[in-house]
Amino acid sequence: MLFYFTATGNSLYVAKQLDDDRISIAQAIHDKGKKYTADKIGVVCPIFGHEVPELVREFLREAEFETDYFYMILTYGNRHGGAAELAQRMLEGFGIHPAYMNVVLMADNFLPGFDMEEQKRTDKKVDVQIARIREDIGGRVTFLSPVTDTDRAAHQEFLDRSAKMPKEAFNHIYRITEECIGCGICTKVCPKKCFRMEGQKSAWDPAGCMMCMACIHACPMTAIQMRIPERNPKARYRNENISICEIVDANNQWGEELPVSL
Ligand SMILES: Cc1cc2nc3c(=O)[nH]c(=O)nc-3n(C[C@H](O)[C@H](O)[C@H](O)COP(=O)(O)O)c2cc1C
Repeated sequence: MLFYFTATGNSLYVAKQLDDDRISIAQAIHDKGKKYTADKIGVVCPIFGHEVPELVREFLREAEFETDYFYMILTYGNRHGGAAELAQRMLEGFGIHPAYMNVVLMADNFLPGFDMEEQKRTDKKVDVQIARIREDIGGRVTFLSPVTDTDRAAHQEFLDRSAKMPKEAFNHIYRITEECIGCGICTKVCPKKCFRMEGQKSAWDPAGCMMCMACIHACPMTAIQMRIPERNPKARYRNENISICEIVDANNQWGEELPVSL
């Protein structure tokens, strides 16, 4: 049994190679009991600011796992900042004792920092990393991905910088341009239901948004833009092995009552 969260497909690509019994956290967050029993239980998700996305943290805080082997894999694009150690600490705080914590370096989908065209061209030997992890998990290996003082310092520097930013800094981070054709893809890939249709156009509500960027990367018209400078405002990313339908299946919160039909 493997729980995953994904915005642009990297974490789902990893999850698909580790277990056939996969559950999207964006859907499981609505489970009533959240009690899960399996021989092995894993979690795969991206890191945001070196840490586990809020939605994943909320799920892990509420869930109860009965297993002899709990593992967590964090996908990242550039600098993990000691993510494995931070996540391990978080899990222990929730009473979960992971046997295995590892990270996978993949394309970085953070638009202010990276040009997606460049990310798509860079070979980060993803399949080699995943094959190693698959073998480890198959053999129930116990392991914590090593974290250095430089990683810890990088995270501290990030926290210090973030603390100086005004709380409402992200309330206007996205804007929807005239290019929007009202296709509704953003409403379906958003795991937090932050988009709705207003007439023929999409509208974004920042309440609950965790800035996972699923919407901005999925928009077929590049009509969702950031209000802070992007490296390449025309370039967007989705893991090449994952379809837009798989991201919709993972994150869609509307069930049958889709706000728009495609
Ligand atoms: C808001 C945000 C913050 C991120 N922070 C980091 C980070 O601190 N370090 C890093 O290396 N990658 C960071 N990334 C990149 C993602 O972790 C990486 O691209 C991940 O593989 C995306 O997974 P997904 O395709 O499953 O959503 C960030 C991405 C976003 C959207």
